[in-house]
Amino acid sequence: MLKYPAPARSNINRQHVQRQDTNDAGTQHIRLSQVISALSYVLDMTEGQPTGHAVRSCIIGMRIASEIGLSTDKLSALFYALLLKDSGCSSNAGRVCSLFGADDLTVKRNFKTVDWSRLSDSLRYAARNVSPQSSPMQRALRMLALAFEGQKAARELVHIRCERGEQIARMLDLPEETARAIRLLDEHWDGRGHPEGLKGKEIPLLSRVLCLAQTVEVFFTTYGLSAAFDMLEERRGTWFDPALVDAFLPLRADRALWDQLKYDDLQEQIVRLEPEDRILMADDARVDRIAEAFAKIVDAKSPWTYLHSQRVAEIAVGIGEIFSLSRDELRRLRRAALLHDIGKLGVSNLVLDKPGPLTDQERDEMKGHAEKTGEILSRVRCFSEIADLAASHHERLDGTGYNKGLKGEEIPTSARILTVADIYDALTSDRPYRRASTHEEALAIMRKDIGTAICRRAFTGLELYLRKSRNRIH
Ligand SMILES: [Fe+2]
Ligand SMILES: [Fe+2]
Repeated sequence: MLKYPAPARSNINRQHVQRQDTNDAGTQHIRLSQVISALSYVLDMTEGQPTGHAVRSCIIGMRIASEIGLSTDKLSALFYALLLKDSGCSSNAGRVCSLFGADDLTVKRNFKTVDWSRLSDSLRYAARNVSPQSSPMQRALRMLALAFEGQKAARELVHIRCERGEQIARMLDLPEETARAIRLLDEHWDGRGHPEGLKGKEIPLLSRVLCLAQTVEVFFTTYGLSAAFDMLEERRGTWFDPALVDAFLPLRADRALWDQLKYDDLQEQIVRLEPEDRILMADDARVDRIAEAFAKIVDAKSPWTYLHSQRVAEIAVGIGEIFSLSRDELRRLRRAALLHDIGKLGVSNLVLDKPGPLTDQERDEMKGHAEKTGEILSRVRCFSEIADLAASHHERLDGTGYNKGLKGEEIPTSARILTVADIYDALTSDRPYRRASTHEEALAIMRKDIGTAICRRAFTGLELYLRKSRNRIH
């Protein structure tokens, strides 16, 4: 068990937390940390990291914080920064894929073990990761292009990722210190990091902790304890704040810490690391914002899906209102629509952004996103009730859809609404292999599938909603 100095207790704050535990309707609210830590697994997947990377980084980072005696406010800001540090990771996936001509998940995984501030290491890394399936000539050309873009490309990739991560933290109403820590987590002590090239104590302390914690986690998980500490000593004063390294070095002997990091399920331990006086709760409004934030993360994964989840949610709720669904049903439908494609975060951009037809294997990978959506959401307490609904958006009435092959009455009304909203938005948006259909073309295409794929009532609801919303605009 980890040892931490007992945080100062405040009765006022404790009462505040207890009051927030129950809302007006008497239903339980849950801790924000439970939701965010469960969702952090999807960020690991997007970053190509082994499951649990973010929660293990959180344990390591909070341990450093306890060694250097951070205040409760800073501990709270750091705690969420550690869990959400990769929330911008989807936004540069398409660029990584096009730059390297390779699977973004693999490139990103390998990137975390390289000292990319050193030219020789960067070149070795590029040679290993560039266009693995291409001819030697194509690889050489891409290497040349990469070498040409070099540091500029690296800065751009980090900039996109960190800026988006900062926005996500703000969307969730987390402290400004959390947002800033995420934005600057790839800055290095010697000034050779990104995105701003800050140096020494110009870099916020929380960002310095983030950088150290995530790198130790990657080396410990990939190569073991000795390699992690060798790396720490080697990068002391280049990547890392020497004082933080010095505070961390004695922890090498803490067997309990390193044994704990090998557990499969660290959820309970993570929840206990949040400072007792700053326990943040997730009420319905905050859970809605979490769904909106993760919809942005999903849509950022591919340039072709910009705003897709948000638009599907607007259309689905519009149809749901025409169907006079209850407030609770509408809220569930909206959350499911926002998160319906969250499984795509585990699909390579080589597949998502492919300009031509998919191979059988690629099609299977693409189809797998619906099942992944269900798996991801079922593990998050506040989203488990919408997991089946969100995962059902590619089902067809005739039973030939996926992922479960549900048929007719097995597909509930909300799922039918979600399906037509998804199809309409996909058809009226550009895709890498076809241009967008017009409004009329999309409805004509969908009309042909009524009764086989699409529910007639849901389609009529879609037409009514679109007529109303288009009249509002014109
Ligand atoms: Fe989908
Ligand atoms: Fe979709």
